[in-house]
Amino acid sequence: MLKQDEFSYRRGVLACEKANLSGIAEIHGTPAYIYSRRAIVSRFREYEDALAGLPHHICFSVKANSNLAVLRALASEGAWFDIVSGGELYRVLSAGSPAGCVVFSGVGKTEAEIRFALEQGIHSFNCESEAEIETISRIASSLGRDASIAIRVNPDVDPATHPYISTGLREHKFGIDIACAEAVYHRASQLPGVVPEGVSCHIGSQILDAGPLLETAEKAIALIERLCARGLRMRYLDLGGGLGVPYRPAQSAASIPAFIQGLREKLSGLDLALMLEPGRSIVAEAGVLLTRVLLVKQNGGKTFVIVDAAMNDLIRPALYRAHHEIIPVKEPAGGELMEADIAGPICETGDFFARHRQMPHVTAGDLLAICTAGAYGFVSASNYNSRPRPCEVLVEEARVLLVRKRETYEDLIRGESLDRDPGAKQRFDPSNPNIVHTDLEDDRLTCHFRPGSA
Ligand code: LLP
Repeated sequence: MLKQDEFSYRRGVLACEKANLSGIAEIHGTPAYIYSRRAIVSRFREYEDALAGLPHHICFSVKANSNLAVLRALASEGAWFDIVSGGELYRVLSAGSPAGCVVFSGVGKTEAEIRFALEQGIHSFNCESEAEIETISRIASSLGRDASIAIRVNPDVDPATHPYISTGLREHKFGIDIACAEAVYHRASQLPGVVPEGVSCHIGSQILDAGPLLETAEKAIALIERLCARGLRMRYLDLGGGLGVPYRPAQSAASIPAFIQGLREKLSGLDLALMLEPGRSIVAEAGVLLTRVLLVKQNGGKTFVIVDAAMNDLIRPALYRAHHEIIPVKEPAGGELMEADIAGPICETGDFFARHRQMPHVTAGDLLAICTAGAYGFVSASNYNSRPRPCEVLVEEARVLLVRKRETYEDLIRGESLDRDPGAKQRFDPSNPNIVHTDLEDDRLTCHFRPGSA
């Protein structure tokens, strides 16, 4: 049932590489995101190996998993990065990578983000409107810089994926209609401070069949040929991300080598560097969300397995009705299955991880692994219901590294302040016997707890 080599049962217990997940839960608690370094690196190398001999850059899409240790692991393999915000640039720099290996995508960049990116010296911007190109031109000129830009064209190709993550149709907000692109390139080439030298596309995510991606490449290459005929020199083609992964045992996704082979054929004979921005296909299968069963209850003739993770920790099932395989950490002995809904503690019916799922019998205290959670998992986690976000753990062979601490209650209120009501201190001197006293200074409330009580 487990497709990922890096997660398998070893002596009856689910392990990530050589570290067993029940041991990790003992040390770091649950819910916890667990990533296999080997899985991340090996998916990245699949891209690199398939692209050998072609000028290229694999720009990992930071939005899929922005943990510094994950970025560092990929950087050490030669990854470049695709970012969509100033915060993501800050993360890439904090992970020790140079700005020169960063491509900045996104349909709405602020002036402050553009300035930050230019000052740091990123490789290029993928621009999605004429207004954005003009803003970059103005800011770059004021800084005395020339910004390399690609125009993200909207090729009107249906990626056949969930409508929320489909981006390449004409009616979407993304990119510039490919039919108008030539004129936009022409105008951009006359502006100071910007050098249009790339074409970029991204038609959507979780695309299981490479067909639409290859069709997009064809349309983009035809555009590049038309631009060259007009005397514009294009140096690179950025095809975005999008290659999907199997979330169900019966699902199959185009393999990385087969997809790249298809691209190679289309690119042969062209003097172009290829850029790709994969996120999910590198990290999704490399991670699980580890959670503990709080209780099992019957309601309305149904069985509910209530776990300690919730929609705030992994929102994909609630948001897209996404399927994730969920398996017990203790290897099931076989035998009869039960049908259950697996749900979190949040007071929303949408707070579920699985519905009507056939699964081995579990009881309170058992650990479950929610599979294929390495992409768009932690990065979309929130503090909804004032739940501290989970910790993140990176496993390398038998080494278990805590790469992000579990948040604390203090983290939850960091940055908040009370109003200037002079009665606030009294009101917040609560009757809670565990709070010894509170300080209110400069609008900042500090609660001092009885040792051992919080
Ligand atoms: N490049 C651009 C411009 C993107 O917008 C995206 C993803 C990527 C690259 C990476 O695509 P990937 O290789 O990961 O498919 N939260 C959703 C996925 C949103 C994807 C948004 N854009 C989910 O959980 O399925």
